[in-house]
Amino acid sequence: MKVKKAVIPAAGLGTRFLPATKAMAKEMLPIVDKPTIQFIVEEALASGIEDILIVTGKAKRPIEDHFDANFELESNLREKNKTDLLKLVEETTDVNLHFIRQSHPKGLGHAVLQAKAFVGNEPFVVMLGDDIMEDTIPLSKQLMNDYDDTHASTIAVMKVPHEETSKYGIINPEAEVSNGLYNVNNFVEKPTPEEAPSDLAIIGRYLLTPEIFHVLESQEPGAGGEIQLTDAIDTLNKTQRVFAREFTGKRYDVGDKFGFMKTSIEYGLVHPEVKDNLRDYIIALGAELAKEDTAEKK
Ligand code: UTP
Repeated sequence: MKVKKAVIPAAGLGTRFLPATKAMAKEMLPIVDKPTIQFIVEEALASGIEDILIVTGKAKRPIEDHFDANFELESNLREKNKTDLLKLVEETTDVNLHFIRQSHPKGLGHAVLQAKAFVGNEPFVVMLGDDIMEDTIPLSKQLMNDYDDTHASTIAVMKVPHEETSKYGIINPEAEVSNGLYNVNNFVEKPTPEEAPSDLAIIGRYLLTPEIFHVLESQEPGAGGEIQLTDAIDTLNKTQRVFAREFTGKRYDVGDKFGFMKTSIEYGLVHPEVKDNLRDYIIALGAELAKEDTAEKK
């Protein structure tokens, strides 16, 4: 069966970005001038996804409005002949988007469970707004290609520094079945470096079979008291094969402050409007900081 649907959970509390996320979803925070969720929607479309469900929480309106037409703004830009800006505003509206509310942020697994009726009995992709992925083939498409071969759930993973395993779900790989595709013994949510069975961390893209919903329906809260998707995937793996696909492209972790700032700088350095000024600014700032460092050491 062809994978046509994607689910984007965007109902977390975003506590790492408070107070910015008090009244706004962290998925709406912009990288230069584009909300992170738009990068995710673009990856879905580039992968051939036809229908997208966004799971929203308290800050539902700005996400819905962002992907809706804004007639007042559009006619204003048209009147002023700002065709480039008009194009940017219009290109977010031509997407088959659906929304559902997760009334309480009980965890990622619980957010995905809200997609049960939308997904029905089909395989689907879960894409987290925390991670922007870049590769010649979009990561979601890589997982969809794997599904065409295996007809099994496949989770994207990436090597992370060993001391950071407690920030991620980690896989215990059994064997590499083909280039970068692993059989998995088990999945562990946020293990300490001592407990971690590998350095291969689950990153924000999953291709799941609909059987995951049966598991999620009876999933007990796990790490942090939340209903964890990783725990449900571990259970699913006991009744049907779940593979892991190692991602070798570039991952921008926008879920924490420092990752977000690094991503903004890197995207700024290739943004036609600001790249030259930003580059000059960074070079000048670097020289100033180096001078301060030398003065401190004296
Ligand atoms: P995170 O744990 O990174 O998001 O969840 P968070 O809880 O919003 O962030 P912090 O840790 O408090 O700063 C990963 C993804 O799952 C979604 C989040 O919106 C994020 O995209 N999520 C998480 C939900 O949709 N619902 C939840 O109950 C939890």
